[in-house]
Amino acid sequence: MTKPTKKLFIKTFGCQMNVYDSERMSEALGQAGYTSVETPEAADLIILNTCHIREKAAEKVYSDLGRLKQIKTARGAEGHDTVIAVAGCVAQAEGLEILKRAPVVDFVVGPQSYHRIADLIARAQKGERDVIDIEFPDGDKFQHLPARRAGARMASAFLTVQEGCDKFCTFCVVPYTRGVEYSRALSEIVTEAERLAASGVREITLLGQNVNAYHGAGEDGAPATLAVLLRRLAQIPAIERLRYTTSHPRDMSEELIAVHGDEEKVMPYLHLPFQAGSDRILAAMNRRHTCGDYLELVKRIRLARPDIALSTDIIVGFPGETGADFTATMEVVEQVEFAQAYSFKFSPRPGTPAAAMEDQVAEDLKSARLQELQALLRAQQSAFNDACAGRKMPVLFERPGRRPGQLVGRSPYLQAVHANGSDSLIGEIIEVDILGAGPNSLEAEIVSVPNRPEMAAAQAPIG
Ligand code: 5AD
Ligand code: SF4
Repeated sequence: MTKPTKKLFIKTFGCQMNVYDSERMSEALGQAGYTSVETPEAADLIILNTCHIREKAAEKVYSDLGRLKQIKTARGAEGHDTVIAVAGCVAQAEGLEILKRAPVVDFVVGPQSYHRIADLIARAQKGERDVIDIEFPDGDKFQHLPARRAGARMASAFLTVQEGCDKFCTFCVVPYTRGVEYSRALSEIVTEAERLAASGVREITLLGQNVNAYHGAGEDGAPATLAVLLRRLAQIPAIERLRYTTSHPRDMSEELIAVHGDEEKVMPYLHLPFQAGSDRILAAMNRRHTCGDYLELVKRIRLARPDIALSTDIIVGFPGETGADFTATMEVVEQVEFAQAYSFKFSPRPGTPAAAMEDQVAEDLKSARLQELQALLRAQQSAFNDACAGRKMPVLFERPGRRPGQLVGRSPYLQAVHANGSDSLIGEIIEVDILGAGPNSLEAEIVSVPNRPEMAAAQAPIG
């Protein structure tokens, strides 16, 4: 008799690094006999891969655990055991506290310990209490995880190249939850990228909390920069697009800016957080750059790649932020004109210096500032999208859209693009006419598909 497979459900919160970690965990657990299911009700093992970056993200985990408790009880009544795990940055930050506050949790695993997850499951299943692994081991968890396999017909994939952060911005939990900066060796990354390419991936987004500080061992053993890594990955023929995120302005070297100017595979899109426009607030945030430094950097990047789409992160209501400080933030936005942006109200995170600062800004003032800022950012995003109407653009189609016959892809500038076309175009980069723009996406028409026999059937318009 064959052993029945066990069912796994992972819910991912937060950033793309968690998305990548969840994929790697499910691959590792796949080797241990788990198959993924769509709902927690159907799962023998439920993992919440959590985010601690802002208060709301962490609170969502506890409210989910309340619901999971009911599911576990209901499954128990039907004779099924359910193992519940909390992974990710809440696990790292709160550790044992989670097991105390939510006894439904069977084990807690931090982001650096995923290669030991099968062992943790076994311990929890034996009835061991307080199973927890939030060590920061030396070296690279990825080396201990099974080799990467891309899902079927995955056009675009994430690849974590760097983890952790030594910058210690005073508002941020990352240096505490993900630990010190660590870069994977270049050869290990190239091997993973080649495997992704072989399975049909056309676009890779390199991930790291401080990705442009990448300094992994290069081919000669000496540290290699992100610029060197990008140029090396660009040599993989099937990889046609490269992106990276998230970058710190201090690590935006001339060498890296030059890559945007002359490496065609590096897409004209850059996420470059500036957080605040006032130098006084930037200093209190320990950002180690001024507003002038940022604007100067933007100028140099645009000189290298004039059409680059810039994206950013902004915090409003950092402790001590005055009306004039907030105006300085608005002025940076007005000057740069972002194609896209993420903006947040400051959220005091336990253990970070900013949480203990005096002059915390009142919640309603933070909300009012955020509203004003987001109105400006929305207008800029719409203007950027509108300016694309009437242009031709190469689009990498990634998946079917919501409507029958519709496909969704990405422009070079990372905009979502909708067009009618056959599913066989998924994974292809196709030149399209942009017909119109909405605030969050572009509408396009596929005018011609590559002249290859297997594509002929794909050309017939649908709808
Ligand atoms: N409060 C609000 N926003 C924060 N971010 C990080 N920490 C906080 C915090 N305590 C934002 C920053 C960062 C993004 C990932 O999240 O803008 O760039
Ligand atoms: Fe957090 Fe980014 Fe600052 Fe590092 S550089 S502490 S990850 S905001």
